Amino acid sequence: AVLGIQQQPFAGVRLLITAGPTHEALDPVRFIGNRSSGKMGYALAQVLTELGAQVILVSGPTALPAPPLARLVRVESAAEMHAAVMERVGECDIFIAAAAVADYRPELQASRKLKKHSGNIDLRLVPNPDILAEVAARNPAPFTLGFAAETEALEANARAKLNNKGLDMIAANLVGGAEGGFDRDDNALLLLWGDGQRELPLMPKHQAAREIARALMQRYVTST
Ligand code: CTP
Ligand code: CA
Repeated sequence: AVLGIQQQPFAGVRLLITAGPTHEALDPVRFIGNRSSGKMGYALAQVLTELGAQVILVSGPTALPAPPLARLVRVESAAEMHAAVMERVGECDIFIAAAAVADYRPELQASRKLKKHSGNIDLRLVPNPDILAEVAARNPAPFTLGFAAETEALEANARAKLNNKGLDMIAANLVGGAEGGFDRDDNALLLLWGDGQRELPLMPKHQAAREIARALMQRYVTST
């Protein structure tokens, strides 16, 4: 009985979380993708369901098992992820964009396997919709937490994304180095919001998810 409310601070809160990479098809057997493992988004889904939240996890292709308490919606491309999110975002209180959405897709998708020729191939890429920016621009919008994957100028780049996309919070991490990020089990993060920030040192992604959930709860409660 001493457990109860304290342990379920997210009871009754509906979350929509994106996770993983997206795959942008070139033809039926090839795609353009990225090194995201999906671990951060899945860890958040796991931790938040344990804290009582109702979680829908919209996931690009990953090798991870479904978090037992979340509803998993599997997608491949950014366009599919966009559609899956827009279909459900009206019924969520908090939107977390942990996916590494491809910024571009091939303009043309061959319906048959591309054959090799001698010489070069020119590949034209066209921009994908920014799912997070579109969610944050809705009226009313859910509370939004984004991620920022950066190889440099972490704080400045992340704060620019927070402001430009009109987010409530952003979790920034350095990628492409030894510090954590893509395709790893641990991560060092900088959490930023309108008038504050908090540094999370290198720690396992499950622990980082717990810390993010704690900060998220504080900011979410103040915003409502
Ligand atoms: N994001 C999204 N849809 C996209 C691109 C990004 O929802 N088409 C979300 C990501 O899930 C992340 C945030 O936007 O939460 C920032 O993604 P990131 O790739 O770091 O930034 P971009 O805004 O895409 O800018 P850039 O890649 O040029 O740094
Ligand atoms: Ca991007």
